Amino acid sequence: MTHKRNTLRGLAAASLALAFGFAAQHAAAADPIKIGLILPMTGQSASTGRQIDAAVKLYLAQNGASVAGRPDTTRRLAQELVVNDKVVALAGFGLTPLALATAPIATQSKTPMVVMAAATSAITEASPFIVRTSFTLPQAAVSIAEWAAKNKIKKVVTLVTDYGPGIDAEKYFSERFALNSGVVVEKLRTPLRSPDFAPVLQKVRDANPEALFVFLPSGQGAAFMKQFAERGLDKSGIRLIATGDVTDDDQLADMGEVAMGVVTSHHYSANHKSAVNQKFVDAFKKANNGMRPNFMAVGGYDGMRVIVDGLKTTKGAGGEALLNAMKGQVFESPRGPVLIDAQTRDIVQDIYIRRVEKVDGQLYNVEFDVQKAVKDPGKAK
Ligand code: PHB
Repeated sequence: MTHKRNTLRGLAAASLALAFGFAAQHAAAADPIKIGLILPMTGQSASTGRQIDAAVKLYLAQNGASVAGRPDTTRRLAQELVVNDKVVALAGFGLTPLALATAPIATQSKTPMVVMAAATSAITEASPFIVRTSFTLPQAAVSIAEWAAKNKIKKVVTLVTDYGPGIDAEKYFSERFALNSGVVVEKLRTPLRSPDFAPVLQKVRDANPEALFVFLPSGQGAAFMKQFAERGLDKSGIRLIATGDVTDDDQLADMGEVAMGVVTSHHYSANHKSAVNQKFVDAFKKANNGMRPNFMAVGGYDGMRVIVDGLKTTKGAGGEALLNAMKGQVFESPRGPVLIDAQTRDIVQDIYIRRVEKVDGQLYNVEFDVQKAVKDPGKAK
């Protein structure tokens, strides 16, 4: 397996050349099937790129394929991957704006586009060729809102990053919380780029809610937790609840005492108890110097599975045939049972309520409750 990575403005694109048994049916064996993978590799979302890249490589190493690379930025990259590299699928998409920018290319070229990370509900509606293997913020936010209301929390302040997934998290948390007689007394937002948590944390202190609900994209959780502790909020009696993006497995081990007891909702924990997950975590760590997989890694791993299984069905053909072969796939992911809903092309999955605890001396999100087979609440409008 060869993998050449080039970065320009923080994005990397690789065209993965897959050599499978069915390649001969598709074209000459020397004419490999290609998938275009576009990921953020620097800056705030670097961990997303690193995790997905590692997971994609792990899946390919376990299932036999070779990889080659080429550079550029998202939309143009996607265009080049489709036109020049003739990729059968586009994949990756670490942030919502990058997925939305690429959607028209998927539609125009009839290329299936597998969103492995971005999680704004509306993304799958931006192109009929989009399939998602990550999650949606409404899935996570609704579950933690219900948990909070059931656990005698009545007054909450919300704090989210001011773009697609944050706006979804704020809306779906607030609506479900209100439905269960809760009150959101203040809605705070921080910018996606270089957020400063000090001023919003002061506002939280002044509002003095029973709990603070937070969504921040993967990669920002550690900086937030540090500020939360430095300002003494962890000792203020204000409970911290969040989507699992904040207690991300990529950063959780280094967050320290402040994270202990934080309750979150999400689709994946590296601590998920199943044979499939144990095998995945062990293989991932072994292939990556002990790095713990996070929810981005699982989105990448499952995304590759959906593409490769689809290609097995189509015998290597892309386009609408591949799209149709991805729709309706059911399998056991490291996260638990999943379905790619044939109507919405979005993932249906279990959402867990977890508490940060020490397991063998290391911090983990320990699952203690579950909502089974959650469809994206954002689609039910
Ligand atoms: C997104 O941009 O859609 C996104 C990024 C990181 C997350 C969740 C959503 O953790």
